[in-house]
Amino acid sequence: MLRFCLLLLTLVGLAACQKEPLTQCDAAQPLHGYYPFPVGAAISMIELGRGTAYDELARRQFNSVTPENCFKPSYLHPGPGQYYWAEADALADFSQASNQRLHGHVLIWHQQLPGWMWAFAGSPADWEALFKDHIQTVVRHFRGRVAGWDVVNEAFEADGTLRSTIWKQHLGATYLEKAFRYAHEADPEALLFYNDYDLDSNPVKRRAVLSWLRTMRQRGVPVHGLGLQMHISILNPENTQIAEALGEVQQTGLKIHLSEIDVAVNPLGKAVTPNRELLQRQADKLAFLVRTYQELPRDQQYGITFWGISDQNTWIRRYFQRDDYPLLFDDNYQPKPAYCILAR
Ligand code: G3I
Repeated sequence: MLRFCLLLLTLVGLAACQKEPLTQCDAAQPLHGYYPFPVGAAISMIELGRGTAYDELARRQFNSVTPENCFKPSYLHPGPGQYYWAEADALADFSQASNQRLHGHVLIWHQQLPGWMWAFAGSPADWEALFKDHIQTVVRHFRGRVAGWDVVNEAFEADGTLRSTIWKQHLGATYLEKAFRYAHEADPEALLFYNDYDLDSNPVKRRAVLSWLRTMRQRGVPVHGLGLQMHISILNPENTQIAEALGEVQQTGLKIHLSEIDVAVNPLGKAVTPNRELLQRQADKLAFLVRTYQELPRDQQYGITFWGISDQNTWIRRYFQRDDYPLLFDDNYQPKPAYCILAR
């Protein structure tokens, strides 16, 4: 009897895996045209303008742009009182010419800071002046061109406590509130976001962030939205966790940005090739994420942004030093099943 049940379960399981044929398609129509909310990509200034297929995909498939790196302090603010706008302005010009929304990433983070900030030895008042000057100079420079900002990125630890960043060390825990107030002073029209990772899979961290957001709103701090980065994989999180997370975030009434989506197919770092089974699992995971996002109230849908365009540009390969294929277009800029399942 037991063997019969196991056989039945195996047959049912196999049938489920072959639920629909691997999707093939062309990218003739822009992906963003299939959705009522902005569909964006993180754009690298290393890749843009080199005359590859990257340029056309960046211009045509997406109607929102997030700078992958060129708006970060190490790029914009290379020295005390010294700002470098050329690359960031070029990306702003590109997005404007392509009629794309521009989302600013990131004003305050504990990574990609210029050396002089790490070495800064001022008083607490000097630190606050540095902090305020950076935020307000950058936000004012892009006023009217940037629709929304990641004001603070990754300020919470996995256990829900505040990360001991250079900013917390020198300005105290109120640096988050100050960042939002300074940004709002510089551009009252811009939507201001808090952005973080693992909010889909770590309820302790998520609930700490949501509690902090509620407190900020009660105190009249101008926080308008939450960015869930969504660096996920075919193994994690489960679909039930995604549904639970978006359901909890929806209760805040805030704008919701799936801000840095990629779906790793090799999270365990094995030697893999992107076979049919992996690409189908990636497509199915991404389809569930986007369909769940589509169920949110329309006025909370700030949009979805993929963290890159082609697998060959993904940060994951560089950072983890592993083979992976997490994005919508393959190494030859061809649409993958993950693209095709969304472009319908
Ligand atoms: O451009 C230089 C190159 O000239 C130099 O030869 C090379 C060797 O060091 O470095 C290159 O810069 C790298 C840059 O990416 C551009 O590729 C930096 O080293 C590298 O640290 C930087 O990594 C970025 C990472 O943030 C930094 O933590 C990734 O591109 C970027 O995708 C990633 O994005 C972050 C988000 O901003 C926040 N959320 C997490 C996400 C993934 O880490």
